[in-house]
Parts: sequence; structure tokens; C-alpha cells
Amino acid sequence: MFEIDPLSLRSAVYGVPPDDLVEVPEGAVQLSPLRPGAEALEALGDGSLRAIVVAAPAGSIERRFVLAHALRALAPGGVAVVSAAKDRGGQRLRAELEAFGCEVAERFKARQRICTVRRPDEVQGVQTAIDEGAPVTLEDAGLRSQPGIFSWNRVDPGSALLLRHLPAFSGRGADLGSGLGILSRAVLTSPQVEALTLVEIDRRAVEASQHNVSDSRARFLWADARETGLVDLDFAVSNPPFHAEGIEDRGLGQSFIKAAARMLRRSGTLLLVANRHMPYEEVLRAEFRSMKTVAEEAGYKIFEARK
Ligand SMILES: C[S@@+](CC[C@H](N)C(=O)[O-])C[C@H]1O[C@@H](n2cnc3c(N)ncnc32)[C@H](O)[C@@H]1O
Repeated sequence: MFEIDPLSLRSAVYGVPPDDLVEVPEGAVQLSPLRPGAEALEALGDGSLRAIVVAAPAGSIERRFVLAHALRALAPGGVAVVSAAKDRGGQRLRAELEAFGCEVAERFKARQRICTVRRPDEVQGVQTAIDEGAPVTLEDAGLRSQPGIFSWNRVDPGSALLLRHLPAFSGRGADLGSGLGILSRAVLTSPQVEALTLVEIDRRAVEASQHNVSDSRARFLWADARETGLVDLDFAVSNPPFHAEGIEDRGLGQSFIKAAARMLRRSGTLLLVANRHMPYEEVLRAEFRSMKTVAEEAGYKIFEARK
């Protein structure tokens, strides 16, 4: 039996809770895998936190994984405040926390469910939730992945289309928003490619892609693709995101296009796939000397733009 000095315990925050509804403790350490440089919740010691505030992810396997780790990392009696929009996991939040053995106090505001719990002495079912949400090898696809990563257990149809239209690139390039590394793996089948930087904001995807792309020409950057400092590239490929924190954000893809234009040398090429309804043509025309639609199929378009 030993006593933990409560002053030695830290507070933490996972993601971005609604700031007008939930107070984040001062000095809380950020744990979201979507924040480059953040600590990993999974790596925290058992009972090492006095408090944690969680913006719960929408995916249920991912959410239970995060909640289980949060409860594991809390010291007994430590407090977790967990929020989720009602239509993005909030409906199930109370039941999920109760299933871990927590007594839940809850409030609702602005479509958010906010649950407050104290870590019970005995947390139930933590290991099962952690195992279900942990990194896994998808045997059929031969890919390392994890629930929570974009399209974690199926190839995105946009990426599948881009895979069918990839030219044999040469020189130095980047895969912007590289996810599991599916596009990168295909790009690297061209022996003319000298180097490829996989740029991805989700740490879990970066770690998975390090398994999936075992090629000495690959370099992995856990970073925001809009702020990499990469320059003078011969080519870039991207299936850009169009959601930020679960909300459609058309500006995100447009910023990826502008970032790609900054990275490419003169005559460098960007190959991009997008849902047909995304408004990318104008920014492609503004940022590149020429651009054309290479393919249009099943609701997706592939653009090739030359700097
Ligand atoms: C549409 S997915 C494509 C993933 C992968 N290239 C594929 O084809 O399966 C977009 C990816 O961009 C990542 N992402 C989102 N915002 C980002 C940002 N600001 N910088 C870098 N990557 C980002 C997402 O985590 C996601 O993996």
C-alpha cells in the first residue's frame, strides 16, 4: 500500500471540448492524436492524472477506447468530464460510462451531453475496450490500422480511384494527408521516385503508415500539411480531408491545394482526388499554371495541376 501525492498528478485534455460549456484545467496537457506534438493518452501511466477533460470522438470503438484509457490514467477519485454532441456519440455516452462502473452526473446544453464522473475504485471492462480500439493488422488488406483513423477498415473510394490513375512519378514528392499510406505505397512502386514525405496530422495514422510503407525513400511527418516548410518538390498527391473535428470544411481542401502549390517547384505536378461537389477548380486555376480533370467517376474527380 502506498500513497500517491495528489500534487504530483497532472491534468489533461483530449481534443477540443466546447470552451463555453466545459472548463479545461489550467496547465492541462493535450493528449489528442490529432494535435502534432501532443502526448499519447495510451502512454500515460495508470493513475497518473488527477483530472481529464475529454471531447469524445464520434466513432463508438474509438470513443470507448479513449474513455477506457482516460479512466485507466485517472487516479482513484480523479474526475473526468466528457462531452459529445448528441448526434455524434452523445446519446450513448452515459451508458458507456456506466458500463465502466462510473456513477454519472450529466447536463445538456447546446446539443452537447456533458457527463462528469469520478473514477471508481474498480473500473470494469477497461481492457476489453482498450483491446477493441487498439492498433490491428487487417490481414486481408495487409495493412496496419486502428479504429479512429480515416477509413480505417476499408479503402476510401476516392483513394481507390486515384490508385487507378497514378502515373509513374519521379523525383521528390509528398503525400498530403497520407492516412494509412495506401497512396504512398503505390507511389513508391515507381523506381524513379527518389523520396516521398508522408504528411499526416493523425499520430495513429502516422504510426500505422510506418508499418505499411516500409521503404527507405519514405519519410514520415506528423504535421499539419498546411505548415510543413516542404519546398522544391517534383510532385504531390492528395486525397485531402474535407472534415475538421467532424464538420464539413471546404476550406481545408482548398488550403491543401495552396500548400501543395507552395511546395512544388516550377512545372511540378499535383494529383488530387475529391468528391465532385467540392469547390476546388477555382483555387486550382488560381494557384497553378494549368489544370485538367483526369477522371470523373462515381461521384469523384481527379485533377492534375501543373505549377
Ligand atoms: C481523405 S483522408 C485520405 C487518407 C489517405 N491518403 C487515403 O487515401 O486513404 C485525409 C487525411 O488527411 C488527414 N488530415 C486531416 N487534416 C490534416 C492536416 N491539416 N494536415 C495533414 N493531414 C490532415 C486525415 O487524418 C486523413 O488521414
